[in-house]
Amino acid sequence: MNRMSGKSAVVTGGALGIGRACALKLAEEGALVTVTDVDAGKGSLVVAEIRKRGGDAQFIEHDVADESQWVHVMQGVVERYKKLDVLVNNAGVALGKDVEHTTLAEWRSLMSINLDGVFLGIKHAVQAMKANGTGSIVNLSSIEGLVGDPNLAAYNASKGGVRLLTKSAALYCAKAGYNIRVNSVHPGYIWTPMVENFLKSQGDVAQGRKLLDSMHPIGHIGEPDDIAYGVLYLASDESKFVTGTELVIDGGYTAQ
Ligand SMILES: NC(=O)c1ccc[n+]([C@@H]2O[C@H](COP(=O)([O-])OP(=O)(O)OC[C@H]3O[C@@H](n4cnc5c(N)ncnc54)[C@H](O)[C@@H]3O)[C@@H](O)[C@H]2O)c1
Repeated sequence: MNRMSGKSAVVTGGALGIGRACALKLAEEGALVTVTDVDAGKGSLVVAEIRKRGGDAQFIEHDVADESQWVHVMQGVVERYKKLDVLVNNAGVALGKDVEHTTLAEWRSLMSINLDGVFLGIKHAVQAMKANGTGSIVNLSSIEGLVGDPNLAAYNASKGGVRLLTKSAALYCAKAGYNIRVNSVHPGYIWTPMVENFLKSQGDVAQGRKLLDSMHPIGHIGEPDDIAYGVLYLASDESKFVTGTELVIDGGYTAQ
């Protein structure tokens, strides 16, 4: 119940899916949670849910691709909770296209959220956490940041970028003596609106889900809480010796 007691945590893209599960899980363990998202309606519902369960949370509307909005988020966090201990860089988008048919505009749009967003998050969180003398940053990469998929060119590139940006930032913070840890999480397919919409764009959802289930040696895709538990571990002091690592939670997908 108290693994995150008194810690101030920001979860980007916290309105839906994995981000929502992370926000709820961190709050359940005592964190003071700032949920950010471009979707103010659904983001506010997550905050209401946390408060209903007895937790403390606020919502800030936020496009992770916009640096000025990061400044606004950090100000809002420090104003309300006095400090920042944890950032979960979760917001992300998918694009089911191969390298030959991806337009430059699509590539840049995806990168601005999946990679620029994580870069800006780390940069501004480090500045806020330095003042506090401690911190943990958790970046959502993917199995698609570890292995390639012919139909996910921009997504693969962005998630591979998140994997190594994480290690660079982890080393920088360690060598600077900041006591800020930076790690990446690599989920297999998780049943969220992102995956459901992806399957809708490819054809029959039920058939698509069966195919995805069969691609995971454990026999099925994951659920948002499978990832939230891993994020909770990396966010908490239980992982105080863990930095620059990649936590793979994928039902055996990349073990093959
Ligand atoms: N679902 C999976 O199978 C899976 C697997 C591996 C990694 N991931 C990664 O996990 C993260 C969450 O995925 P999900 O499946 O929960 O996605 P989702 O689409 O279900 O939810 C993503 C959330 O991010 C928000 N968002 C989108 N663009 C944003 C922006 N510019 N600024 C702020 N918020 C924005 C959306 O409004 C939404 O609430 C993503 O980074 C994704 O790439 C997901």
